[in-house]
Amino acid sequence: MTDTPTQADAPATAPEDTVTLTDNATGRTYTLPVLHGTTGPRVIDIRKLYAETGMFTYDPGFTSTGSCESKITYIDGDKGILLHRGFPIEELAEHGDFMEVAYLLLNGELPSRNEKYDFEQIMTRHSMVHEQLTFFYRGFRRDAHPMAILCGITGALSAFYGDSLDINDPQQRMIASHRLISKMPTIAAMAYKYSCGQPFVYPRNDLRYAENFLHMMFAVPTEPYRVNQVLARAMDRIFILHADHEQNASTSSVRLSGSTGANPFACIAAGIASLWGPAHGGANEAVLQMLEQIGRKERIPEFIKRAKDKNDPFRLMGFGHRVYKNHDPRAQVLRRTCHEVLGELGIRHEPLLDIAIELERIALEDEFFVDRKLYPNVDFYSGIILRAMGFPTSMFTVLFALARTVGWISQWKEMIEDRDQRIGRPRQLYTGPTSRHYVPLSMRG
Ligand code: SDX
Repeated sequence: MTDTPTQADAPATAPEDTVTLTDNATGRTYTLPVLHGTTGPRVIDIRKLYAETGMFTYDPGFTSTGSCESKITYIDGDKGILLHRGFPIEELAEHGDFMEVAYLLLNGELPSRNEKYDFEQIMTRHSMVHEQLTFFYRGFRRDAHPMAILCGITGALSAFYGDSLDINDPQQRMIASHRLISKMPTIAAMAYKYSCGQPFVYPRNDLRYAENFLHMMFAVPTEPYRVNQVLARAMDRIFILHADHEQNASTSSVRLSGSTGANPFACIAAGIASLWGPAHGGANEAVLQMLEQIGRKERIPEFIKRAKDKNDPFRLMGFGHRVYKNHDPRAQVLRRTCHEVLGELGIRHEPLLDIAIELERIALEDEFFVDRKLYPNVDFYSGIILRAMGFPTSMFTVLFALARTVGWISQWKEMIEDRDQRIGRPRQLYTGPTSRHYVPLSMRG
């Protein structure tokens, strides 16, 4: 945590490191410390605001509120910059692989050759799930949404791995982190196999992370399965692009759950539940449904009109972002990956991609979207790639959760190790009835 100077040992705060607040109702003024990060906006430290002023701040949706200090991911929304431990996402996606990005997010540095080998060995050797877990799947209907299954199974993991629930033991925290990252592909693939009535496919120790996942998803016992290396590379890059993203809704859900001391498996289940929403990770599934609903380029203006109509709840899915007011750098990498995958699969004509490209062109010329700085986000192109690779739409958010597990657990670990961390407990602006007395039913008419 930033070493906030205590009264005793801190040099006097320089004037530029404070803000002064005047309460015009009482005429009193208050001086609040200003904290500086290594980059990004300065922050006003309001931890003593209520004690000193008797007032709360009010910020629904936390648009201007920093909930924590973190060293993991930095986003500059105006410049379209995304850094993981200081490394630009474009470089990690271009030159790295998901295992070393996972190591980087968890540990703060890119792994050495030996560290990477050891980490990949750990991931490989934790990839099987307890055989008893397979019976959990049978409790779901075959048409259960795979996100419902992922949520349920992940929360249930704490019933199987009681030797990694003590959040105060660094060793147990690391084992739980490794188990979650390595088992998520297995759990996700099993959810898909269960939904289509095919037998579960066990992970293989001779395959790398993304290859293993594609194998567990698409192999069948009746014939050999050959991993397509171009698709495996695309899958690995998609995992990198979805790995972490500062204090988004699902990561904040994980941190808030973790602040109560809940076990890491339950915290990740909370993140999965939060990610499922169509305004968040559920948008990739919603983009495909929107493109299929549009159906052909000629209908795009009709949907653009609906997106601009305040009385119509329709939103242009895959557009806009709470932080990015410029291009989402991940969307640009995914746009290129989209063309690579379609080319590899020999898909010369993908109508949904044609609609997506035309929709992007029109939207980026329309003043409604330009004025509101609404650009395609990470979810706009990912669905087209995943559909081309053979994933059903219902699996898109599952893949997002699979990749984001390393970001969630890295942020959870950072929070647990933050000596200033306390149970999260926001306050409110209360506008309900103040004081009333009970009226007996006989007198309520
Ligand atoms: C993810 O936070 C993260 O980092 C998330 C994420 C991650 O990696 O974890 O990046 C992943 O969740 C990406 C976002 C995926 N969601 C979608 O694609 C759903 C469609 N997008 C919108 O629902 C919306 O843009 C949000 C939810 C993403 C952002 O919402 P905000 O910040 O509350 O934006 P806003 O509602 O304040 O928008 C400002 C204006 C509003 O119009 P006015 O009131 O000013 O007239 O823009 C409009 C909005 O109505 N607007 C849209 C729009 N998004 C915003 N209008 C039409 N279509 C849209 N997509």
